[in-house]
This record gives sequence, structure tokens and C-alpha cells, in this order.
Amino acid sequence: MSRDMQGFGMMINKLKKNPKKIVFTEGTDSRILEATSRLLASNFLTPILIGNQGEVERAAEEYGYNIRGAQVIDPENYENIEEMVALFCELRKSKNVQPEEARKILKQGNYFGTMLVKMGVADSLLGGATYTTADTIRPALQLIKTRPGHNIVSSCFILVRPSATGENEVLAMADCAINIKPSEDELAEIAIGAAECGQIFGIDPKVAFLSYSTLGSGAGEDVDKMRNAAAKAKAMRPDLPISGELQFDAAVAPRVARTKCPNDEVAGHANVFIFPDINAGNIGYKIAQRMGNFEAFGPILLGLNSPINDLSRGCNATEVYSMAIITAALVDEIK
Ligand SMILES: CC(C)(COP(=O)(O)OP(=O)(O)OC[C@H]1O[C@@H](n2cnc3c(N)ncnc32)[C@H](O)[C@@H]1OP(=O)(O)O)[C@@H](O)C(=O)NCCC(=O)NCCS
Repeated sequence: MSRDMQGFGMMINKLKKNPKKIVFTEGTDSRILEATSRLLASNFLTPILIGNQGEVERAAEEYGYNIRGAQVIDPENYENIEEMVALFCELRKSKNVQPEEARKILKQGNYFGTMLVKMGVADSLLGGATYTTADTIRPALQLIKTRPGHNIVSSCFILVRPSATGENEVLAMADCAINIKPSEDELAEIAIGAAECGQIFGIDPKVAFLSYSTLGSGAGEDVDKMRNAAAKAKAMRPDLPISGELQFDAAVAPRVARTKCPNDEVAGHANVFIFPDINAGNIGYKIAQRMGNFEAFGPILLGLNSPINDLSRGCNATEVYSMAIITAALVDEIK
């Protein structure tokens, strides 16, 4: 990774003691192959590539990456396919999926790879170098499902920027990738998930529910929604500093916070940002990334039974490498 992040070194050390297996659904993609060759050299993570053995090897040779030692599994030629088909039908029995349809679906790397995680062949999955976010996430929603205590799967981005003091500035933003128009209850759950995810990366969470209004300065149903969601989150986790609704400037700028809401414990110092919907969230994190010089890691999916993460189709091999470490490190955090 180009910049070290608080928590990254710790994740690698933990993986060294207890290496995990990660599935890459796009086994012939050059970025996946480059990251795989680096991971194999580092020796703290076991990559499993989905694809035809010959095609994967030819692609690696063509791009010039050494992937000797990587396990390649071909959906067309998988020894335990009948077991996988039966489990798939069982998991999708509410949709009355029959074996013939299951066999067809399981030829797709995204579904096949997700089932490898479900069957315990791998611990985690990283996809999306060529699949869209929806096509990477949907199999996880359908097959891996939300873990106990969670009603939805959501996501957060971890944003990292070196600061003048030499320490990295680390922030979390949610939900920028999955839930299109979350309800108040869903926003509260997203906030708790993002705060907890932030803690894994060394953030001491101060959670701001963002709006165009600061503690009643503006009015409207969207303002009420964020205020009510903040109250629900506070009721769920009274131990966490949570505030809202807050405008972005009141959330981050101490001078503005002193004027607009001087007694608020979060205002001026927020580091976990909860957006009202996916439009705001997706635009917001990209502004931080493209104009604020933050490096963005994610979307990191929250609330699943096993870690499955999505890459941007514009990702590079370094991002694949970093996300693979994050994804594998989450295996023990989720249990
Ligand atoms: C996540 C997403 C793909 C789900 O869409 P979808 O597949 O059309 O959703 P469906 O309503 O058909 O749901 C499919 C399954 O996932 C479940 N599901 C959907 N959203 C869920 C959520 N947030 N949490 C948990 N489960 C969810 C549904 O209950 C359903 O389960 P079932 O098939 O067992 O009944 C959709 O919300 C989406 O496209 N989000 C935006 C993604 C995006 O473009 N992001 C921007 C780029 S980063």
C-alpha cells in the first residue's frame, strides 16, 4: 500500500500468526494476478483464484506475475459441485431454486466464490474488479446473509491521509455503497457498524449524522430523519459519542462548532460520518478522495456472517492487495 495506515501493521501481524484463505472471483484479471503474486511472496494469506487453471496460468505468464503456489478452482470442473448445488438449493429454498438452475448460476465466479466461503473452503472473498458492486454483493446477501444482531448489510469506507504531525488522519464514512435510502433504524445500525469498523482501524469514534441543518437550525423531514436516527443510535450505544443532526462544517471545524453548537461533544471533532442516503455518501467520500487527498479503502461490508468485499472496477493492484489484507483480517473480528 502506498501509505501505511494505523491498524494495517497490526492486521498483517495477526494474519502472520493465523493466515486466512481469500477467494478472488476474477482469477484472470491482471490486477488480481499482480496482488496474488505479492500476497504469495508475503506468505500471510492464501489466495484462491476462480477460473480455468490453464487460462489463469496463461494470463499470469502473459502479464508476467509469478503465482506459483496459488490454488485455482474452476467452477466448470469442481470436485464438490454436487455438495455445493445441494447447499445452494437449501439456502435458496424460499425461492424454490432447483438443481438445474443452481448448476447454471454456480458457473458464475461471483456465486461460485461466495459458495466456497459458505462451505468453509475459504474464509473470505474479494471481488468486483470486473463485476459491478451489485453483482458482487447480491450473492453475499442471498447466501452469506446478515449475522445475528444485524438487520441489514451496510458498508463503510475508511479514509486515510497523512497529517502535519506525521500521524495519519483516519476517518470512516457510511453508507456510501449499499443502502440506497436507509430508514432511521437502518441509519442507526449503519452508524454503530461504521463506528465499530472504525475502531478496528484505530479510530476513537465520534459519530456525526450529517444534514443541511445543525441541531434544529433548519427544518424539514430529512432533518427530522437524521435527528431521530442519531437519537436511536445513541439509545443503542450510549457509551459512544454520537450527535446529529449536524452540518458538515459544524461536524469537523472546531471554530464553526463553537458558534453553532458549543456544548456538543462530537461537533468540531467528528471522525465517523453518517450520510442521509447513498447519493450523499457516495459523492461525499469521492470528494474526500479526489479533492481532499484521502486514500479510500472500501466499501467494507458490515453485518455479514463472513467478510466479503467489493473492489472498484477502476482499482489498481495495490488497492486489491490492501483490500485483501483488510478483508482477511476481518475474519477474526466478525467471529
Ligand atoms: C445491494 C443491492 C445490490 C441489492 O439489490 P437487489 O439485488 O436488487 O436487491 P433485492 O431486493 O433483489 O435483494 C436481493 C436479496 O438481498 C437481500 N438484501 C437486499 N438489500 C439488503 C441489505 N441491505 N441487507 C441485507 N439483505 C439485503 C434481500 O432481502 C434479498 O434476499 P432474498 O433474495 O433472500 O429474498 C442494491 O441495494 C444496490 O444496487 N445498491 C447500490 C449498489 C451500488 O450501485 N453502489 C454504488 C457503487 S459503490
